[in-house]
Amino acid sequence: MAILKIARMGHPVLARRAQEVADPAAPEIRRLVADMVETMIDANGAGLAAPQVHVPLRVVVFQAPADRTPQTENETFDHAAPLTVLINPLLETIDPTEEGGWEGCLSVPGLRGYVERPGHIRYRGFDLDGKMLERSARGFHARVVQHECDHLDGILYPQRMRDLSKLIFETEARHWAQPE
Ligand code: NI
Repeated sequence: MAILKIARMGHPVLARRAQEVADPAAPEIRRLVADMVETMIDANGAGLAAPQVHVPLRVVVFQAPADRTPQTENETFDHAAPLTVLINPLLETIDPTEEGGWEGCLSVPGLRGYVERPGHIRYRGFDLDGKMLERSARGFHARVVQHECDHLDGILYPQRMRDLSKLIFETEARHWAQPE
């Protein structure tokens, strides 16, 4: 395993559409994912997409820990996700009502932005054994999946922002109360 170099905003690999993976169960994809997970954990990120490590393929890894979002007994599964690998993911909006939240990105270091996204989605994709995974997601779980999958289409979160006055340095986040 290896910690990979993370591409930063402005590198062309972050602005292009990534290609479908021909064989999700291929050994080189398993190797890539192992390195992506190690890189994500080392950088203390919640998610990472392959283009962020200069690999233009449709692969994302993410986790949504249960302690990151408010939860009720019934919503735990929707709101939280274990460490997950998604290959060739497809997203579908269940409820288009948008929720706002602060996002950061390992490719946009030092900054945070307030982004509105649909709050309830469903996603599908392949795992490392080539099996189809399907889940619904809300809250932070829905946000991180949409953020990571945007990377596969060359989109960084500032491009999703409607109000750039809410693009701030992490060091100033204390001045902003979390909404709701
Ligand atoms: Ni990102």
